[in-house]
Amino acid sequence: MELNIQNNAILETQQGYAKRVLSLAANTYGTCPKACVLTFGCQQNVSDSERLKGMLFEMGYTIVDSMENADFIIFNTCAVREHAEDRVFGNIGMTKQIKKDRPNTLVAVCGCMVQQKHIAEKIKKSYPYVDIVMGTHVEHRLPEFIYKKLSGAKRIFELSMEDNTIVEDIPIKRDGKFKGWLPIMYGCNNFCTYCIVPYVRGRERSREPQKIVEEFKQMIKDGYKDITLLGQNVNSYGKGASHGVNFAKLLRMLNDVPGEFVIRFMTSHPKDCTIELLDTIKECKKVSRHLHLPFQSGSSRILKLMNRYYDREQYLQLIKNAKERIPEVDLTSDIIVGFPGETYEDFKDTLSVVTEVKFASLFTFIYSKRRGTPASVMEDNITRAEKGKWFSELLLAQEKVALENINKFIGNTYRVLCDDYSEREGYMLGHTSGTAVIEFEGDKSLLGKFVNVKVESYNNGLCGKII
Ligand code: SAH
Ligand code: SF4
Ligand code: F3S
Repeated sequence: MELNIQNNAILETQQGYAKRVLSLAANTYGTCPKACVLTFGCQQNVSDSERLKGMLFEMGYTIVDSMENADFIIFNTCAVREHAEDRVFGNIGMTKQIKKDRPNTLVAVCGCMVQQKHIAEKIKKSYPYVDIVMGTHVEHRLPEFIYKKLSGAKRIFELSMEDNTIVEDIPIKRDGKFKGWLPIMYGCNNFCTYCIVPYVRGRERSREPQKIVEEFKQMIKDGYKDITLLGQNVNSYGKGASHGVNFAKLLRMLNDVPGEFVIRFMTSHPKDCTIELLDTIKECKKVSRHLHLPFQSGSSRILKLMNRYYDREQYLQLIKNAKERIPEVDLTSDIIVGFPGETYEDFKDTLSVVTEVKFASLFTFIYSKRRGTPASVMEDNITRAEKGKWFSELLLAQEKVALENINKFIGNTYRVLCDDYSEREGYMLGHTSGTAVIEFEGDKSLLGKFVNVKVESYNNGLCGKII
């Protein structure tokens, strides 16, 4: 199916609404209306929130961190685990009092969570003070929704999911100065049996390569030095498109842009991590020495039930290939503990992958049942308490690995981007092009610059000296 790229007409309509909000909001709230954007979930949501802030800024809002004195409050939500959803409901509940004190305040909820029918219904019934609910495919219409509410419309629920559409050129207000997010694709086609993402984000669709390169170049011009390409499965970028640019080719195009910077990307699905991609990373020196390769489980039986399209052996072979080609690579992963039907034997297979591969760090989760996914109806006999024990065992194993990993840094010199202050007076923090953070003596003038740092010791973190 051809991709439907929307910009001019849709954007013009929204810009029209934005202008009208500019004067309406000033009438309602005074000269300087304030907006608070609260983000839950993954980097995709963080990036979407930067666009929400861009649109709000265009409508004359000042962006504030706290909802206390905000005139517009929006929750950008995540549905990936139950815990994420509970946190959101807790926060939405807090706006009830705010709306009592200041009835003109508008409350909106968007993102992955509301794209589930039962959640939208729950908000409709039990959270009457929420004014706007908008799904993942209509967030660019925020100006229209605010305009309608400020002009007296009833509550707005807009959750349509028109697939195969990408809206380009939405205004953006990025959070960071040196580190930035750059979405290259949206949605997911993989349907891992535990995961809600394909249902709430729709089918996989990739942006045109020239649009990505344009935005990337602009970011470099604006001073960004560390850019992360985003997608649920970046290494399937461009699949089925006529331009013939796959993820490896896209990396080469960005690596060729002049300047010193680091290109990161996430997430990679092991099934699509090709030798071509590994060779590309090896050859492209501006591409980060970091591969996030979620394996989820070390048991081939569980991987099959999860619909992951690789088994334990294939994953370990992929790791071997990556380490052979890029010996300095930092590997990280996601793991789910307690998938339905998982036994302690299966879990031990996960543990052994952790001790064998020696990941730089791990994101570990206890399985959370998601309504409507195939895994939600699979038999699950292991108690939460038992899963908790396995989970602690996994954390302990990784702690040991992390301690062993430290030794490989001592004595080596790294090119780092100095991008933050350390808590210690007179010290700064720098990121390697992998995942390590090094503290070193230096002053504010280094912020945003690349420096060479030799790691000398470890004291609750890597410590080094500029050379
Ligand atoms: N697209 C990415 C990750 C998306 S969600 C990928 O495929 O790697 C991030 C992580 O959340 C997943 O890798 C998985 O480890 C975890 N996750 C997803 N659904 C989950 C669920 N139902 N319960 C527990 N963890 C889950
Ligand atoms: Fe979810 Fe799997 Fe898609 Fe990742 S690849 S978003 S885990 S369905
Ligand atoms: Fe959560 Fe949606 Fe990301 S479900 S993990 S915010 S894609």
